[in-house]
Amino acid sequence: MKKKTIKDIDVAHKRVLLRVDFNVPLYEGIVADDTRIREALPTIQYLLDHQARIIIASHLGRPSGGGHFESTFSIMPAAMRLIQLLGQPVTVVGGSQIAGEEALSASLALKDGQIMMLENLRFDDGEKANDLNFVKRLVSLCDIVVNDAFGAAHRSHASISGVLEFVPGVAGFLLDKEVDTLTGMLAEPEKPFVAVLGGSKVSDKIGIIDNLLEVADSIIIGGAMCFTFLAAMGKSVGTSKMEEDMVDKAKGMLEHAKEKGVKLLIPVDVVCSEMFAEGSPTKTCNVDEIPDDMMGLDIGPKTVELYSKEILDAKTVFWNGPMGVFEFPSFEAGTKGVAIAVAKSQAKSIIGGGDSVAALKKFGLSELVTFISTGGGASMQLLEGKPLPGVEGLQDK
Ligand code: 3PG
Repeated sequence: MKKKTIKDIDVAHKRVLLRVDFNVPLYEGIVADDTRIREALPTIQYLLDHQARIIIASHLGRPSGGGHFESTFSIMPAAMRLIQLLGQPVTVVGGSQIAGEEALSASLALKDGQIMMLENLRFDDGEKANDLNFVKRLVSLCDIVVNDAFGAAHRSHASISGVLEFVPGVAGFLLDKEVDTLTGMLAEPEKPFVAVLGGSKVSDKIGIIDNLLEVADSIIIGGAMCFTFLAAMGKSVGTSKMEEDMVDKAKGMLEHAKEKGVKLLIPVDVVCSEMFAEGSPTKTCNVDEIPDDMMGLDIGPKTVELYSKEILDAKTVFWNGPMGVFEFPSFEAGTKGVAIAVAKSQAKSIIGGGDSVAALKKFGLSELVTFISTGGGASMQLLEGKPLPGVEGLQDK
């Protein structure tokens, strides 16, 4: 990455505002998946080893804001997990008063190698609004900013981009690794490069498909968005979820792929049902025979075979988005098949966060891929070729 990291600056005796993405799933007040916390440990450990004074800040979920403390969105469970993982105390400062007087005195009292943590930044509306007053309160707590919150780097929020206008900012190890892996994949992927894209909307993936058409050898389409492509190919898709207003765009993509010599793979069969519900009777049919009163909810077995072969022949695989409604056992086979192929493949496999990670975990395959991004939205924005506010403002090397 062209931005400085913590290794490029002297952090000793400095108050470091460390922005992390501890927006983790909770269950009964306990962190249900601590991946994002574990992934921040190398940066935290480096700062501790180099005598920094650390102020950790994160958002968690989407609280109602307005300066109200909401216990269900408290950062406390993440802090407790961090304490367990680090084996050293971390003091959470302030309730709803984020970066107020109490936090300021605590930051000034920090000694080398000590850690304090702010409550959920989004309790204060100033965080999302990138409000100048809130930015200045955050800035008053620190001498430098370290951004390791890759998952939130696409947000122009106070703690992500606002603070960088006033204090020097550098990348943590996680942010650096994420940006390097994803930009490296676009810049010089080992070929053949196969991108597997699922999810429900073509409109969400236009930017990334357009960008991947310039670099990938094959783009595999799954999820409900395949029905927009099938409609663009003149097929009748029954009651399947699709975007009427994206049909022309999908046609354009199919033509562009042909011109570029990129294989754009669309399902050849699908698993259909009359209702979007687990247990509803299913019918597997070729894409030319989708019944008028049925919707497609997964890719079919012939498509899984076709897609798996393509994935197994690749040297680089990028995967984002499920192939079907994998949350329902009746419609999980397509996503499972693709997940198995990605896990089996000898390729460098990069998973773009979000639901594909949940799918890999559900099928117990997450250890078998090369790289799992901790950011869904952020990785999509990066792969669309758009700048990330949390990276742009960091110091250049
Ligand atoms: C995420 O989980 O995608 C990030 O933490 C960003 O969260 P947000 O979508 O609520 O901004």
